[in-house]
Order: sequence, then C-alpha cells, then structure tokens
Amino acid sequence: MTDGLSQITAQACANIALCKYWGKQGPGNAPATPSISLALAELAATTTVTRVEDSRDRLVLNGRRATGVTRDRLLEYLAVWRQRGIISGCFRLEARNSFPTAAGLASSAAGYAALALALSGFAKSRLTRAELSRLARWGSGSSARSIPGGLAALATGKDPAARRLAEAGEVPWGMVVALVDAQAKQVSSREGMELSRRTSRFFEEWTRIGQQHYREMRRALRSWDLARVGELMEENTLAMHACMLTTRPPLFYWRAATVELMQQARSWRQTGLQVYATTDAGANVALLCKRSDLARVAQRLKRLKSAGAAIADVIASEPGGPARIVVRS
Ligand code: PMV
Repeated sequence: MTDGLSQITAQACANIALCKYWGKQGPGNAPATPSISLALAELAATTTVTRVEDSRDRLVLNGRRATGVTRDRLLEYLAVWRQRGIISGCFRLEARNSFPTAAGLASSAAGYAALALALSGFAKSRLTRAELSRLARWGSGSSARSIPGGLAALATGKDPAARRLAEAGEVPWGMVVALVDAQAKQVSSREGMELSRRTSRFFEEWTRIGQQHYREMRRALRSWDLARVGELMEENTLAMHACMLTTRPPLFYWRAATVELMQQARSWRQTGLQVYATTDAGANVALLCKRSDLARVAQRLKRLKSAGAAIADVIASEPGGPARIVVRS
C-alpha cells in the first residue's frame, strides 16, 4: 500500500461528548465510562503526513515546531504504530486546527483522528475503520469517536472501537460553542482523569452513573428525544464535574462565565427554546439544540457577548462527518 506514496493529508472533526468519558481502565486509553458524542463540522483538524529520508520525525503544530509534552505524546504515539509493525521509517507531521488548541474543545480528538487516518495511508496493510478507531484511541480516548464522526458511541472494555450511531446528515441537532477561555488548560484530561481515578472518593460512583446515563441516552436517542437527551447530557456533565471537583487537588475547569451560561440555557428553556449545556475539561460551553435553532442560539450568545459577558467567540456548528483523506500524492 505504501508504494509510491509520499504525502497524505487527512481531516477530522472534533467531537463533543453528550455522555462523557472520564477515567481509564487499561492501556491505550481504554475508557472506564462509555461515551456518546456529536462530531462538529466547524471544528476541524487537518494533518499532513510526509515520508522523510531522515533518522527522526519532524512535528509541526499550527505552524510551529511541537515541543514539550505535546511533542512527547506525538512521538509516543508514532512509537505505538511502529512497535506494532504497522509503519516504518520517519515522517514529517504538520497539523492545523480551525479552532483553539487544548482549551476544552476536543482539539486532541480531531488531531489524533486526522493523524491516524493519514498514517494509515502509509500502513503496510489495510486497516479497517474499527482498527483505525482503536489506534486513534491510543492518541486520545475521545479521538476514537472522531473516526466514525456523526453521532458516535465508544463502549468500555479492553480494546473498544467507536461506532457510528447516526450519520451527520441524520442528526437533527447541532451545537453552538461559546468560547469562554481560549488558553491551554493547566491540567490535561489525561492527567486529570488519572488523578480523579486515584484520589476522588466519587470516582466509583461516577463510573456507575456514567453507565446508567449511557444506557438511558441510547434509548432516548432512538426517538431523537431532545428533551431527554439534553437533560441526561446536563446531568452527566455535572456528575463528571462533581468527580473532577472532588479530585485532590481539585480540578476546577470552569470560569464564572461557564456557570452563567449553563444557567442561561436553563432560563432560555423556560422561554420555549430547547437548548442544553455541556462542558468538557475546560471553561467553554457547548449548547445542544435543534439544527433549525442554531442561528437563534448563536444570536443570543452574541447578544450576551455584546452586553459584556466573558465570551471570546461563538461558533455554531452542524454535525460533522467521518475522518477523511483530503489529498494523497
Ligand atoms: O480524550 P481526551 O484525553 O481528550 O479526554 C476527553 C475527556 C472529555 O472531553 C472531558 C470527555 C469526553 O468524553 O470527550
């Protein structure tokens, strides 16, 4: 498969979890809680992988040479592919996000999914989509869900792959992201969830609640019951943050504006607008609503921003598709 190929560019969408993964139960980021996510078309990562005649890899992120933990993680990731004999030789990786990196906006999910797909073009044998999702998971757990895109589920287990529950075009909902903080977070999800597992007295309870939410959400999704899915998503978000807050030292990912926006969603619901809020390991808020309400929700957030709310940007997004190869040469 590698014959003659020198460069592959792949693109993947970030995904926001409606039912969250927080905690690992084994190697390769095997999750302790099952999760469900929606890929977002507006939050895309593009990665170009080029074969180089060199003895080391070159890593470039958003136009800059990768350094520190990011670089170490990427090198570790390439090592996983090499140890398994899937690829050989050295590469130049160039990744670009259409949104702020590491601000709780699932940048690693999109980045590792695009990277996995681009690398698979250099693989010695063809990989199935499930294998690709498993391999993406080694980069970041949530990344497994960006391979199928759309509405995707990642179960627990020793070596799970994400599978698509619905294609982007079938999902009647979208999300509006309110960027509260575009700075990189202080404690990465990887470190944070490991700390929670080791130190939070709520961790076990969180994994039990997570399983329950997952089952109930799967049921509610069958009839596209937005009210039920939205309520479950909010409960699940708060349960995950309860686990984060009871970690030692506590993981405070929110800002004042995060809480204000979550309350805002509740009060908008009372006026008849079906909108539900979630946050990941960061201060940004993603609002789930009907596709037909995306512009209205974005408008309301922009009005809040104009009135002085601590919102840096507003991104409305339709559901996004699977990871895909853009260019091959
Ligand atoms: O895959 P990671 O290491 O970025 O962890 C993602 C964790 C959350 O975003 C908080 C939840 C989720 O399921 O995406």
